[in-house]
Amino acid sequence: MSKPHWRPANASDLPAISMIAARIHSDLPERLEVFAEKMRLYPEGCRVLAADDGIVGYGLAHPWMQHRIPPLDGLLAQLPGDADCLYLHDVAVLPDFRGGVARDYVVAIEQLARASGIATLALVSVYATRPLWERLGFRPVTADAELRAKLASYGNSATYMLRHLIAT
Ligand SMILES: CC(C)(COP(=O)(O)OP(=O)(O)OC[C@H]1O[C@@H](n2cnc3c(N)ncnc32)[C@H](O)[C@@H]1OP(=O)(O)O)[C@@H](O)C(=O)NCCC(=O)NCCS
Repeated sequence: MSKPHWRPANASDLPAISMIAARIHSDLPERLEVFAEKMRLYPEGCRVLAADDGIVGYGLAHPWMQHRIPPLDGLLAQLPGDADCLYLHDVAVLPDFRGGVARDYVVAIEQLARASGIATLALVSVYATRPLWERLGFRPVTADAELRAKLASYGNSATYMLRHLIAT
């Protein structure tokens, strides 16, 4: 069995993405068109983890504004013209294939941000993933009332986090 690898996602991967999302995020369901729209608006940020037998994970990211988050299961309509971060909407990998792969995806997104002149990565940590994201350089940010209200749709443990990229 060869090692699973990240590759750009395409529209034919959508059913697999949707199935993995439903399995891993059963408490935070999102419609297939929400994934499809991200892929259409910003294919550069959408990747799948390809194993011998098919897709075993995905990562979705797109340009956005710091301290703002799209509502869960909501359409973006369009990307902001004055984006100041790449927002990691989600990374999800089937349990048997975890270990080092989130780091690889974040490295790819970091390179994409740098190449696009964007100096910050953002995400909402859910479940108990905050230590994992801290390990990858993200720091929790105090949310204002508007951000707190939006975070509520992501569950109780949702934490908004930023990672400022150091100039290289
Ligand atoms: C989140 C997820 C994609 C991580 O995948 P993964 O391949 O296990 O992640 P990695 O091994 O690349 O972890 C990144 C780093 O965090 C570390 N880490 C993992 N779990 C950790 C924990 N509980 N506490 C502290 N550090 C942790 C890893 O050791 C690694 O650091 P290292 O490279 O220096 O060793 C996977 O666990 C998953 O699909 N979870 C369910 C969906 C989910 O919660 N997604 C995130 C939504 S915000």
